[in-house]
Amino acid sequence: MNKIKELIQKEYDRQHNTLGMIPSENYTSKEVREAVGSVFMHKYSEGYPAARYYEGNEVIDELESFVRDMAVKVMTKHDSKEVQNNWHANVQVLSGSAANLAVYTSILEPGDKILSMYLPDGGHLSHGWSYSSKKDRDDSLESEGIAYKGGKKKVNFTSKVFDIVQYKTDPSTFVFDYDEIEKLAIQEKPKLIITGGTAYPRDIDYKRMREIADKVGAYYHADVAHEAGLIAGGAVPSPFKYADFVTFTTHKTLRGPKGAVAMCKREFAKKLDRAVFPGLQGGPFNHTIAGVGQALIEADTKEFQDYANQVVKNAQILAEELVNAGLNVITGGTDKHLVLVEVLSAGVSGADFASKLAEIGIIANKNTVPYEKGSPVDPSGLRLGTPILTTRGMKEDAIKEVAEIIVEVFNMLKNNEDQYGDLRLKVDGLCQKYKLPN
Ligand SMILES: Cc1ncc(COP(=O)(O)O)c(C=O)c1O
Repeated sequence: MNKIKELIQKEYDRQHNTLGMIPSENYTSKEVREAVGSVFMHKYSEGYPAARYYEGNEVIDELESFVRDMAVKVMTKHDSKEVQNNWHANVQVLSGSAANLAVYTSILEPGDKILSMYLPDGGHLSHGWSYSSKKDRDDSLESEGIAYKGGKKKVNFTSKVFDIVQYKTDPSTFVFDYDEIEKLAIQEKPKLIITGGTAYPRDIDYKRMREIADKVGAYYHADVAHEAGLIAGGAVPSPFKYADFVTFTTHKTLRGPKGAVAMCKREFAKKLDRAVFPGLQGGPFNHTIAGVGQALIEADTKEFQDYANQVVKNAQILAEELVNAGLNVITGGTDKHLVLVEVLSAGVSGADFASKLAEIGIIANKNTVPYEKGSPVDPSGLRLGTPILTTRGMKEDAIKEVAEIIVEVFNMLKNNEDQYGDLRLKVDGLCQKYKLPN
């Protein structure tokens, strides 16, 4: 066996023999993986269907048009006909960050102001993250109420190009206070408002955000990278009635290959397409587009609706079990696929918790929590998600068993115990019972 084949087998075994609980990951079907590994990867096709810079694109044209239509159909499935007819999709964007950059370049000029969610409260780097190291920090300038004005280290490229202001959650509930966000928007007058993030466990009030955007004449962009599959499955609210732009990754709850889609109201279609090509990219990854198409076909089924609803039910059971065991679940629960737990106040570091869980076969990730007192490298929280466990077929009872193991690890860390007994065996048992998809 050559090295790559050997590593593929090794990674398969790792995935099979551990319980993946990182909310931004999922396991695809064999058909998705076959599409991504198909001959579509051989073709160059700069341009768009029927307007290419290379010959031999008649099949690729058919592929891209089909996947574009499927993206609109599946993602707006739970919206009215009027909403469905008003959206356009660009399936060439290479990743979630690239999709977001395409939105910004389509409607903003360098220096324009963006109002987005604060990263440590669960926002995303590509929404304009910058910070100052401790010695350079002047909190009186950078933070005021729920507003964060950025720091000296321009970490994400978007923070070098645009003027970024970020909103935090409410300091007592860790949920958004929309009246405060509205006040901030009126004060800052951004040209673009972004919602969405990586660790906010509650639904976003898209209607209210639209009202805020309208009040200040801003465009509204909903980044639903995490929730895409849940929206397609009707398990959480849809942003399409309210946003001007919607971007999402295809590899999280949507259960497709690593990739992304950028969507916009039809009036912005030309601008968005031009921003992607030739603005930011060359030839699209046609094999990824094929894999996304296959994932969308799968997402357009009753089975997937059941899956999406089960993902949320499982996360809610997980949160409930952790709360009952005395853990500090941020916001007390979840509306979607992820649960954020603060552990530092119990004397446990987020990093230690994640690494101990990994030792016994549960793969989660350390994470910042709102009003974080640690750092991204050693934060006070742990982020857990149910998309993979649900793909493996787990329902409430199995999730309760997983929660029990997590609580045992937490209590051992809290009490400085280091004998983990048969926890790894319990995880093994669950891995054998709930196998990887085909
Ligand atoms: C909210 C959000 N936006 C954008 C991205 C970026 O996606 P990618 O990693 O494909 O660039 C992510 C990825 O985790 C995300 O969670």
